Amino acid sequence: MAKKKNILDFRKMKKQGEQVAWVTAYDFPTASFAEQAGMDMLLVGDSLGMVVLGYQSTVPVTMEDCLRHCQAVRRGAPGTFVVGDMPFLSYQISDEDAVRNAGRFVKEAEVDCIKLEGGVRVATRIKAIADAGILVMGHIGLTPQSSGQLGGHKAQGRDTASARAVIEDALAVQAAGAALLLVEAVPPEVTAFIAKLLMIPVYSIGAGPCDGQLLISADLLGKFEAFTPKFVKKYANVAEVETDAFKAYIADVRAGRFPGEEHVYRVIDPLEEFEKLFREFAK
Ligand code: KIV
Repeated sequence: MAKKKNILDFRKMKKQGEQVAWVTAYDFPTASFAEQAGMDMLLVGDSLGMVVLGYQSTVPVTMEDCLRHCQAVRRGAPGTFVVGDMPFLSYQISDEDAVRNAGRFVKEAEVDCIKLEGGVRVATRIKAIADAGILVMGHIGLTPQSSGQLGGHKAQGRDTASARAVIEDALAVQAAGAALLLVEAVPPEVTAFIAKLLMIPVYSIGAGPCDGQLLISADLLGKFEAFTPKFVKKYANVAEVETDAFKAYIADVRAGRFPGEEHVYRVIDPLEEFEKLFREFAK
């Protein structure tokens, strides 16, 4: 197994122009397959609310949901850098709350880093968490927890006023002590500028080339059918594979083809003994 990467490796990779590849994971098997594939990093995103729990948005996701899924991912990928995503209202209320909840991710789920959404307006939260000794990843651009304020899941930084706000957010995140930054749904020109401007590694989801790329595993694998953002590249159609397998199973059960001889446990005592037993109960 390759050595687990840490923040020093990610800084070195940025310096050397080496790309970081990472995906979201929410469960033990996905985490384990991603680690076996050689993924650099995993995010247990609050997108779990939509792609795993079936909510309409990430807003209903709780700390308990996130911790439970982080624990499963940690068990599935013990040798991979895991980022825990702070859910809505776990850091918005106060710096104290933010530190307490970030600490729970580290203590209870053994994540390597936490991520929270926002730039300038969460700078004191980032500083408080980083001052507590916890690695922080910022998340700017399209921030799904505040998509209501953004008018929906809309790309950011497409005009100069919006690009200015994204760049100011990036600078605020770094100045507050974040170790990593994720930029979502921003034009590649703006992301490339930010990646050059900042010392810390800058990763993209739907924001073009920079120091590394993130995709939501359910999108990449073709497991989430509600909608597919423009920036997704689909590498498999697991929904089709699963549906076809379920259809074949239903057909086999209904036709009496399953279970077959190879799927049953044979008795080890003589059959006559069993017949005697059955007669005893049938009386
Ligand atoms: O929750 C998540 O998966 C995320 C990505 C959209 C970046 O935060």
